[in-house]
Amino acid sequence: MLTLAIESSCDESSVALVDGRQVLVNLVFSQEAAHAPFGGVVPELAARAHLRKLPALVRAALDRVGLQGDDLDLVAVTRGPGLIGSLLVGVGLAQGLARGWRKPLRGVNHLWGHVYAAMLARPELEPPLLALVVSGAHSDLVRMPAHGVFEVLGRTRDDAAGEAFDKAARMLGLGYPGGPVVDRMARRGDPARWPLPVPSLPGLEYSFSGLKTALRYRIRDLGGSEALDEKARADLAAAFERSVVESLLEKVRLAWDRWPAPEVVICGGVAANSLLRRRAEETMEGRARVTIPPLSLCTDNAAMIGAAAPYTPAETELGADASLGW
Ligand code: KG4
Ligand code: ZN
Repeated sequence: MLTLAIESSCDESSVALVDGRQVLVNLVFSQEAAHAPFGGVVPELAARAHLRKLPALVRAALDRVGLQGDDLDLVAVTRGPGLIGSLLVGVGLAQGLARGWRKPLRGVNHLWGHVYAAMLARPELEPPLLALVVSGAHSDLVRMPAHGVFEVLGRTRDDAAGEAFDKAARMLGLGYPGGPVVDRMARRGDPARWPLPVPSLPGLEYSFSGLKTALRYRIRDLGGSEALDEKARADLAAAFERSVVESLLEKVRLAWDRWPAPEVVICGGVAANSLLRRRAEETMEGRARVTIPPLSLCTDNAAMIGAAAPYTPAETELGADASLGW
């Protein structure tokens, strides 16, 4: 099914052409530079940037593979969850294109998209599977017994893992966006120098606010972030990263013990984290096959929306719903 997909839920403007589980083109324009001076995503700026960028990306994607609107089977767009202003830009554009080209339109759940990214990476992958969706806004453990069926087993009580990485980076004076920079620093750091607790609530829930506070106190006790040299920042980044990753994987194992699926998927922006990628394989060895999409399909992109679209029920065709859950 040849699908043109649009993703605009947060600060990535993206357009892709996907044929089933084959990506023909996946253009991603990151707005990072526009938001960096503010230390986080500014919703108003994000929506305006999508408005400027998305139409050109649609044109460029079609030109890149020599196709026209007429050739398509489907238009797909992220309908939520996400920033409402940003979602509306993508949805409005998709509605106009679908109407103009006389093609059906599917509104796709962004979180489903992250899981289906794994099927672009491994086209033979099929449910049943267990997924950890870790992004800037979610840390959800879900079981997927069949296509289009998602059952949330647990989520975070407070911060999402990506949000925790972003806040830790800010506390350490490492700038924005936080996840990638903590990842880079942590590779040079020693996590055992100033170890931080591994958050562990009973059951399948996550919590990262206590860990954040522990980091804050540690930095304060060391004289504040300005007093830290490169080595100290790297060691603290490594300790923080280790605690987040071990907490995430402890619950994946617990979920698997309760529901031993043959396949485990780790996806969403935080799945780009190098320690998480390495440790996930080790933790699940002998239990399940682990699939983690390549970096370009972990962070927000339209190809994953195109991959999920054929499995999205047609009744969710229209509308941007920022509060949409699973
Ligand atoms: O899925 P995503 O691109 O956007 C949302 O849907 O939220 O995830 C973005 C999140 C950000 O919090 C970012 O800091 C985090 O993913 N992230 C990482 C890494 N790359 C991106 N976190 C840890 N390590 C990384 N390498
Ligand atoms: Zn996302």
